[in-house]
Amino acid sequence: MDIVQVSAELAPWSKTGGLGDVCGALPRALAARGHRVMAIAPRYKAYEGAWDTGARAQFHLFGSRHEVAYFHLLRDGVHHVFIDHVSYRRPGIYGDEHGVYGDNLFRFALLCRAALEAPLRVPLDGGPMGEACVFHANDWHTGLLPVYLEGLYRSVGRFPLAPCVHAIHNAGHHGAFDAHHFAGLDVSTRWWPACDMDGRLNCLKAGITLAAKLVTVSPSYARQLCIDHGHGLEGLFAHRARDLWGILNGIGPEWDPATDKHLPAHFSADDLSGKAACKAALQRELGLPVRPEVPLFGVVARLDHQKGIELIMGAAPWLLRQDVQLVVLGSGGAQYEDWVRRMAREFPKRARGWVGFSEPLAHRIEAGADLFLMPSRFEPCGLNQLYSMRYGTVPIVHATGGLADTVPTWDPASGQGTGWAFPDFAVDGLVQAIGWALHTFHGHKDAWRQVQQNGMRRDSGWDRAAALYERLYGSAFG
Ligand code: ADP
Ligand code: GLC
Repeated sequence: MDIVQVSAELAPWSKTGGLGDVCGALPRALAARGHRVMAIAPRYKAYEGAWDTGARAQFHLFGSRHEVAYFHLLRDGVHHVFIDHVSYRRPGIYGDEHGVYGDNLFRFALLCRAALEAPLRVPLDGGPMGEACVFHANDWHTGLLPVYLEGLYRSVGRFPLAPCVHAIHNAGHHGAFDAHHFAGLDVSTRWWPACDMDGRLNCLKAGITLAAKLVTVSPSYARQLCIDHGHGLEGLFAHRARDLWGILNGIGPEWDPATDKHLPAHFSADDLSGKAACKAALQRELGLPVRPEVPLFGVVARLDHQKGIELIMGAAPWLLRQDVQLVVLGSGGAQYEDWVRRMAREFPKRARGWVGFSEPLAHRIEAGADLFLMPSRFEPCGLNQLYSMRYGTVPIVHATGGLADTVPTWDPASGQGTGWAFPDFAVDGLVQAIGWALHTFHGHKDAWRQVQQNGMRRDSGWDRAAALYERLYGSAFG
């Protein structure tokens, strides 16, 4: 198949969270299965090895003409295509220290327009891809893609067969704008009802309404979208439930403790000795007492309402009165960032907080910690619990969405389970789960080793997911 994936983030070039990781990894897995894959994202800055193809396209948007250039980089069998326009060349992806960019609707509408021309204009080995491809759009940023596909191409006989599959990584972000902006999009008002939610232009709703198939990143979240986690779009999701798939994310080869370039030592399920060295190195790096026997808790997250940071804040006074260590890496809401700094000040021998974004430190926390806290309010899939399990770091999670689907609670009777998942979103649920985990850590070393190894041996590769995406695309063509 010819597959054209379009997203606002594409790791390792651009990333604020899991969207970037997934959009970077899935195309590689699809290419490895023999498909021709284009992964399209904005060119936020000059990327080494990505060359100007010479292809250009012009679009009329918001009252004036805009020209984009197409840059190309073939890596791991994937044709990475970066859309160049002056509005992308800024310090942040969605905003900077002054807030979100005021022209994001324009920037991502332009991405959709440019992406639809990419298979027609960007020369690959044997010329452009052509019209018989499947478009795979991601989140609200690409919600307008099927509007343009239907309104500007299909209505005049172009792309007669090409379907659009829309992937929902987070239904909490709609891309909602005042209705009068619709006039700037340069499509017929015939398409307004698809975009209209409560009188506002809603990009996510447009994608959900018009895409041939929908997919989200876990089976549980797919169900929850139709019931109570659709952020106001439950009815529409329920209406489209037969077209809505749930496919769990995988994790890429850069998250492997046996080869991870950010780690001071390496390890695997069969030989965990390198993990102890990673723990000691992390304690040293952060200026914590170097003690192998003390349980070290890690948190790496966007500090957002979604992530249930309140539960960690609620449990911390109890947790930090015990002989434990806690390391938090994250950035986001000011109230959470303030708490991270305050907690580290109050418990200098037990806690460290690192406010910011650091890919290397994220890897070293995953490797050096014993336990990982992820009490998300809702979680479409979640990657950090998957990374934790791969690194022998036992996750404690709220049983929601992808967390419920990937972290079975340890059952001493059967020897099954990879962590602890608590059912109700409440501080005492988290406290109780931590209590059980600490009891096992201190008192049952063999059981602890088993939980770690169960997680490390879990198949979290991308190939299984890629095979399901293949079937999804096939059904979209049908
Ligand atoms: P989400 O996409 O909702 O943020 P995921 O668990 O799917 O949640 O993915 C988060 C990704 O972002 C992981 O790769 C994680 O390591 C990374 N990440 C989040 N915050 C930071 C940070 N402050 N520094 C480095 N990496 C981070
Ligand atoms: C989103 C979700 C997260 C998911 C990621 C990648 O940001 O919040 O749960 O893992 O996308 O799909």
